Amino acid sequence: MQKGLEKYKRILITGGAGFIGGNLIKKLLLETSLEIYNLDKLGYASDVTVINDCLTHIGRVGKDRYKLLKTDLSKTNETKKAIEKANPELVIHLAAESHVDRSIDDPQTFIDSNIQGTYNLLQACLNHYNKLSIERKKKFKFLHVSTDEVFGSLSAKYSFSEYTRYDPRSPYSATKAASDHLVRAWYHTYNLPILISNCGNNFGPWQYPEKLIPTIIKKAIKNQKIPIYGDGSNIRDWIYVDDHIDALFLIISKGAIGESYCIGANQEKTNIEVASEICFLLDKFRPLENSYKRLLTFVEDRPGHDLRYSIDSSKIKNKLGWKPKYTFLDALKLTVDWYLENENWLLKQRNKVV
Ligand SMILES: NC(=O)c1ccc[n+]([C@@H]2O[C@H](COP(=O)([O-])OP(=O)(O)OC[C@H]3O[C@@H](n4cnc5c(N)ncnc54)[C@H](O)[C@@H]3O)[C@@H](O)[C@H]2O)c1
Repeated sequence: MQKGLEKYKRILITGGAGFIGGNLIKKLLLETSLEIYNLDKLGYASDVTVINDCLTHIGRVGKDRYKLLKTDLSKTNETKKAIEKANPELVIHLAAESHVDRSIDDPQTFIDSNIQGTYNLLQACLNHYNKLSIERKKKFKFLHVSTDEVFGSLSAKYSFSEYTRYDPRSPYSATKAASDHLVRAWYHTYNLPILISNCGNNFGPWQYPEKLIPTIIKKAIKNQKIPIYGDGSNIRDWIYVDDHIDALFLIISKGAIGESYCIGANQEKTNIEVASEICFLLDKFRPLENSYKRLLTFVEDRPGHDLRYSIDSSKIKNKLGWKPKYTFLDALKLTVDWYLENENWLLKQRNKVV
């Protein structure tokens, strides 16, 4: 049983059909006996193959423990009904529109899902929380999963921490910042027991190929140009998705109500370093006559592209005892290997990126 989750019976995951949510539900199905409710609108980035594979693997018992609630959080009544149906003691809120480029083209969708959606969820959860028995109320927690992008862009020095001023630059990060503020307000004003996490760039299996790492692998496999924004010098602090999920479980079991935790594995890489490393691995795993590096192509930079993200995760390390299990290179090997093994899935996903 996943440590710290033993006392819960019913858990609601929002955005469970997305990349992090799918990996998280897989862990919950395999490592707990919780009843799992997956609230997702099933948008363009959703895919439940990982969950279905897992359900097939664990059989009947698993199927009885899992329910998909197709719900759009931007719709007030749908959200209310879904919370009543799930009747949870624990909520992990992952649902969000998550791709910066799309937020530049279509900010309204981000406002609807990330701000209005979080507001609807908070209201529905507060209403539900207020009606719980004393016993269940004591257990109830709402974990809001957010991003380091709310803190803006860093120059060479410094790292983001829980004390960093919010300074979002893209419609995506601005809507995530707004959702963090709403969640905090529902704690201070209405005593909803919340926790917040702010994590760096995740990678791993089942990530929709509009994000950097699966895009590079997909383009390389198709022998197409691999687009790199600007001069490739933008820095991200990378973390393997399983390490992020373990940190979330730890925050649920040991985190202090009302507080936020920054999660990062201290693995800063420029985009061109990441792309070159993937080409190097592909040259090893699936060699061609010429290196995949020849496909790397610099393209016009994204407007307002944040230069550097870096996370100081001292708080979660010192107070909760978290540490990442995977190094960047080991996790990247696993990831590239997974996408090659699951090439059909990867090539089937629609791709917006040039
Ligand atoms: N991927 C990362 O690197 C990263 C890093 C830090 C934080 N996060 C946060 O983690 C969460 C999950 O990220 P991800 O990478 O899995 O994203 P994703 O885009 O892969 O999945 C998001 C899921 O949320 C669902 N969703 C979106 N709007 C919804 C709505 N209105 N109602 C119901 N469902 C809705 C989508 O259908 C999708 O299945 C997001 O909140 C994101 O901000 C992601």
